[in-house]
Amino acid sequence: MSTRIHVDLAERGYDVVIGDGAVTELGPMLAGRRRAAVVTQAAIPVALADEVRGALDDAGVRNETFLMGEGEDHKTTASVDDLCRRFAQWGLLRGDAVVALGGGVVGDTAGFAAAVYYRGIDVVQVPTTLLAMVDSAIGGKTGVNLPEGKNLVGAFHQPLAVLADPGALFTLADREYRCGLGEVAKYALMDDDFVSARADALSARDPAVLADVIARSAEIKARYVSADELEQSGTRAVLNYGHTLAHALETASGHALLHGEAVARGNARANRPSGGRASRATRGLARAPYPRAARTAGRRRRADHGARQEVGWWAHVHALGAERNRKGRRPGPRRGAQGARRDRYRGIGRTWRRSCCSRDRT
Ligand SMILES: NC(=O)c1ccc[n+]([C@@H]2O[C@H](COP(=O)([O-])OP(=O)(O)OC[C@H]3O[C@@H](n4cnc5c(N)ncnc54)[C@H](O)[C@@H]3O)[C@@H](O)[C@H]2O)c1
Repeated sequence: MSTRIHVDLAERGYDVVIGDGAVTELGPMLAGRRRAAVVTQAAIPVALADEVRGALDDAGVRNETFLMGEGEDHKTTASVDDLCRRFAQWGLLRGDAVVALGGGVVGDTAGFAAAVYYRGIDVVQVPTTLLAMVDSAIGGKTGVNLPEGKNLVGAFHQPLAVLADPGALFTLADREYRCGLGEVAKYALMDDDFVSARADALSARDPAVLADVIARSAEIKARYVSADELEQSGTRAVLNYGHTLAHALETASGHALLHGEAVARGNARANRPSGGRASRATRGLARAPYPRAARTAGRRRRADHGARQEVGWWAHVHALGAERNRKGRRPGPRRGAQGARRDRYRGIGRTWRRSCCSRDRT
């Protein structure tokens, strides 16, 4: 059985379908189109690609698979250029479609290629990582990195649909799975805590719990996207909770720290001053090793739950290594371990500034 969540964006609205066999909806959805370019990676299990191709074949849509590289290093303008050139050589036209089959890297890159190819062609997101199912595939943010910073080039390009089959997650490496939990924990912090009581089942990838947690997370994301599609009113910016520090950590570590891992740490640190409402999942994730400097983030202030933007601001100040705090005071003299930590944190702040990380980019 599938759960269907609507992202309410009037004529750009679409469904996020979560469940066993969600991918079969691809056929009826694209039936009548001439061609579909399936963008994926070599590491994505063949069975998933076969399922997508099978659905397209059944619908009579001619399809071709386009492989792209793995990891953040391939989420680049060069990859978009390469994909678009291969689309053109194959004969993909404006009325055709792109299918992004993979995690956030594929979704963001193929989504952006679809946004700019022929000035925009349709894309269907078929997420295969937990992070992509609960976050990156939903909401239409597409884009790639520059050497100067993460997600600096991109476009809002809403998909025709998001088709998520939780069964795809059984082949996902533990580390990648935990990355998704980082984003799930974010939703549990934003809404009621639907994670802590089921942390063990989630760790064991219990299918029923997984399907429910993905649906709950997707519903929250859809709600915020529907309210502020282009992140103009500030409502959607709440989804970037913990991301300022996360981007700084990601960039400072040269992407040794994966996006979801950095987000988990960003969440935990941003959450601490808000009364320590961190879920068990967040705390567990935060325990793993990470740049020590980050541990000082947000430690200065306790705020109530409603003040999470404020907390984000504090993380900002610390991440920037600001010379003055909010009251205009200079930080005290650097002494001992505390001073050393502050210095390290300023190092991250400098990287942050260099890479132009900002909290409005996820
Ligand atoms: N657009 C947005 O709104 C948004 C939101 C959050 C994150 N992101 C972006 O998402 C990216 C991270 O995405 P990610 O965590 O999915 O990483 P990823 O896309 O790099 O995928 C992780 C790895 O898992 C492999 N993989 C994917 N599915 C698999 C499966 N079912 N079985 C086995 N292996 C599989 C991939 O080939 C890859 O090697 C970052 O670039 C981040 O900036 C975007």
